[in-house]
Amino acid sequence: MQAKITAHPRFIRACIDDRLYGAFIEHLGRAVYGGIYEPGHASADGNGFRTDVLELVREIGAPVVRYPGGNFVSAYDWEDGIGPIEQRPTRLDLAWHTRESNEVGIHEFADWCDAANMDMMLAVNLGSRGIDAARNLVEYVNHPGGSYWSDRRIANGRAEPWDVKLWCLGNEMDGPWQIGHKTADEYGHLANETAKALRAFDPSLELVACGSSNAEMPSYPEWEATVLDRCYESVDYISLHMYFTNYADDLIDYLALSEKMDRYIGAVAGVIDYIKAKKRTRHQVAICFDEWNVWYHSTEQDKQVVAGANWPFAPPLLEDIYNFEDALLIGCVLNTLIRRADRVKIACIAQLVNVIAPIMTETGGRAWCQTIFYPYYFAARYGRGAVLDLDVDVPCHDTVHEKQVPALDISGVYNADAGTVAFFAVNRSPDDTLSLDIDMAGFGAASLIEHQILRHTDTKAVNTADRPEEVAPVRGEGISCSRTRVTGPIEPLSYHLIRIEVG
Ligand code: AHR
Repeated sequence: MQAKITAHPRFIRACIDDRLYGAFIEHLGRAVYGGIYEPGHASADGNGFRTDVLELVREIGAPVVRYPGGNFVSAYDWEDGIGPIEQRPTRLDLAWHTRESNEVGIHEFADWCDAANMDMMLAVNLGSRGIDAARNLVEYVNHPGGSYWSDRRIANGRAEPWDVKLWCLGNEMDGPWQIGHKTADEYGHLANETAKALRAFDPSLELVACGSSNAEMPSYPEWEATVLDRCYESVDYISLHMYFTNYADDLIDYLALSEKMDRYIGAVAGVIDYIKAKKRTRHQVAICFDEWNVWYHSTEQDKQVVAGANWPFAPPLLEDIYNFEDALLIGCVLNTLIRRADRVKIACIAQLVNVIAPIMTETGGRAWCQTIFYPYYFAARYGRGAVLDLDVDVPCHDTVHEKQVPALDISGVYNADAGTVAFFAVNRSPDDTLSLDIDMAGFGAASLIEHQILRHTDTKAVNTADRPEEVAPVRGEGISCSRTRVTGPIEPLSYHLIRIEVG
């Protein structure tokens, strides 16, 4: 079966914002405590951060990380996380029914981001709190000095402001589970007023309003329309969240879920266009897909902790162990984000360490990469530049929920500075080898730099601390580049990175 692709440097869909490959760390389970931070650990640095985890995080090269939640932020008092650690209060976290020691707060997290080479994307609490807490936090974080909150920061040991540009106005405020859940009207108004206050401090801040928690919410997409109607001119992004599950254990249908994500992006882009037209404005709101991942493996076991009465500290929560088929889907999800980079400017895998994460740790022990680490790593590393508008002629199949799903899911990113094109491809077919044929004549010259394959005979194979490389990329064979034609077999159920040097 043929998979015929044409890539041409004149057919560019959009420039990719590097923040498309962002990440997310929430005070949830063992993401912070026992994940990125574990003072007694053999690899801990002087600040208590695990350097084994830091090394893996740095390898990905994600440019930005969202913090501190998630649901957690909607009842979080950020002031609890500043000042001498031994004087910080222990609080009950109502979102995840655990105890929060506040050992890690904004100073510690900022130090970790420095060590990890990532910028912070901070969320303010618009659930239990509002404009005041938000404006004070922004002053604490970004003002040089000479005011109450900036001087408190300086007294707490940080002279320079962190100058955080990207701020989320709450989290999933459409969700009835959210502390301080609001109607679209209430939230849209609050987002607008909060944005007004933050912009009075610094007009150059980039602000993200909450969109729907997922495309199944009864209020979607009316939520987006109402919220944007109230705050369109004051914000830069509307957020989208989506989590994928394979409860039905139907691999073919599962691998088509990225098509649903594509429609979700298209629909919200349509709502943005509608409100933009209605307001007769030139201001362009973009999409910030700030939570996406597979999440279902751990749901049952988590119910006990969240429903329990003992408020544990940093228990294992949302610790999905990902298998090979999850990695294939994540490859398709990343391709969707790349292809939609004209509308999606920022996206965050949810999350980064231990909690529905590509990186896992044992508390007091080892750290390793889950299967989904690899497509994320390849996209984050090589998906920088301009997304190509590929002409794709591949066989399609129907699934239980989707029609005409391309057997080959592919995206291409042209980095003109480096003179390279990276193709990310997933063969969704369980049976058919696809004969790849990419015409790159428009580039003048092309040669193969590398080909990496993620493959496994068992779609349920996982990586563990004892077998950390059960599912890991290997150097590909069979793909070749002659003049400006890239050809070769793409085996069933496999993920590929193909990098080409162009002339
Ligand atoms: O990422 C886990 C949770 O999923 C987040 O806290 C919340 O925003 C979403 O529902």
